[in-house]
Amino acid sequence: MKEKSVFYCTECGNEFPKWSGRCTACGAWNSIVEKPAFKEDRRSAVQGPRGVSLKKPVLLSEVDITEELRFDTGMGELDRVLGGGAVAGSLVLVGGAPGIGKSTLLLQICQHIGEERRILYVTGEESERQLKMRAGRLSVDSPNLLILSETNMSDILEAVDQVSPDVLIADSIQTLYSPENQSAPGSVGQVKECTMALMQLAKGSGVTVFVIGHVNKEGAIAGPKVLEHMVDCVLYFEGDESLSCRILRATKNRFGSTNEIGVFEMADHGLVEIPNPSEMLLSGRPKNTPGTCVTCVMEGSRPVLAEIQALLASTNYNVPRRTSNGFDYNRAMLLLAVLDKRGGLKTGGTDAYLNVIGGLYINEPAADLAAILAMASSYRDIPIPDDLVVLGEVGLTGELRSVAQLEQRVSEIARHGFKSLIIPKQRRGKLNPPEGLRILEAGNIREAMSLILGA
Ligand code: TYD
Ligand code: MG
Repeated sequence: MKEKSVFYCTECGNEFPKWSGRCTACGAWNSIVEKPAFKEDRRSAVQGPRGVSLKKPVLLSEVDITEELRFDTGMGELDRVLGGGAVAGSLVLVGGAPGIGKSTLLLQICQHIGEERRILYVTGEESERQLKMRAGRLSVDSPNLLILSETNMSDILEAVDQVSPDVLIADSIQTLYSPENQSAPGSVGQVKECTMALMQLAKGSGVTVFVIGHVNKEGAIAGPKVLEHMVDCVLYFEGDESLSCRILRATKNRFGSTNEIGVFEMADHGLVEIPNPSEMLLSGRPKNTPGTCVTCVMEGSRPVLAEIQALLASTNYNVPRRTSNGFDYNRAMLLLAVLDKRGGLKTGGTDAYLNVIGGLYINEPAADLAAILAMASSYRDIPIPDDLVVLGEVGLTGELRSVAQLEQRVSEIARHGFKSLIIPKQRRGKLNPPEGLRILEAGNIREAMSLILGA
């Protein structure tokens, strides 16, 4: 029987039963082409190495679950985000805005990985000379590191066949193109096709592949977003370009948790790991100033101290301005309303700005009380003591609710030399305060406010 032909759009990837001049899904002209007939060597990525014919279903009890093979990247912060090192034969996508440090990170880990593994670094963005200069700056001179300045996917796969690397780094997916596909590099069709080829390489030959993908400010048209479902891990590299702090987080991880973050600082000689982010996030904190409050949030398994700043000032606009940065906007507005109604502040005519320092994004109710107190402190123009930390979720009636993993947070707070801590009222005898840390309990936001800002 003759197979039915299928057409698809090279721009958006949608399939159609017949050809037409314009894609009805994305509106692109002349982008519909016939799908090439199914070729034996273009098996789907899940089907395993070439030459392995039809797979049979197996009993769950017979599935081999020996630990996947992992190796260190030499960067503890990256290993942590990956879930304890890179998994051999996995495909990891590293996304982030241009200039954030993706190439720097991946070139830097080559030094350690190169001690035991052969690496091929394919760059479509820089010349070999440029890459060498960058490597010099990062003190990378591994004899196991091969570099290739190439963008044609077939040539890259050919090179992989020749040198058979253990690790392949592709920088960046937007510059690669497959000659079989007519559309321009960086288009959705190309990006997907090249990623699929890299996935086959990873699953078929066990090569560990790191792919760099740029995210543009508008939200990534052909960026990492369209690839997330195809790869094993998606790591995003974030942080303000003007600040030196960089945060790496996993939004997808088939081999580990997605809660962990890795913190780095961009220095002259590359990225430096920050194993103790609290110190860095609190450095430069203004002393004895209204509108700043410290709290402790859990970033995966790690407690991190964070500073929340607020500015409340009477407005010059018809409608007061409200913004929040690093803190959920709706949550911030809810807390402002609670502060107005239950805290007795009249915020109807004030602008309110909330900001979390250091590029951190707080997504945890335990930080509610700190946001509330920072706003109240700014409104009243009374500073919160420098050595005080607060913890607590705030409910709609202004009550304080307990937070999870209190012991862990308390020990991090004590370790950084803070002298007092406000927590929600506990059932008796639950917490053993470390020496030197005074624990104050409050039942609602009014009590918390009167503890530090007076009546
Ligand atoms: P890069 O890794 O090229 O970013 P990406 O690949 O994500 O686009 O990083 C570029 C920025 O980092 C650039 O602004 C210069 C800076 N940088 C340093 O500050 N120190 C260094 O050692 C290196 C290599 C780069
Ligand atoms: Mg780069």
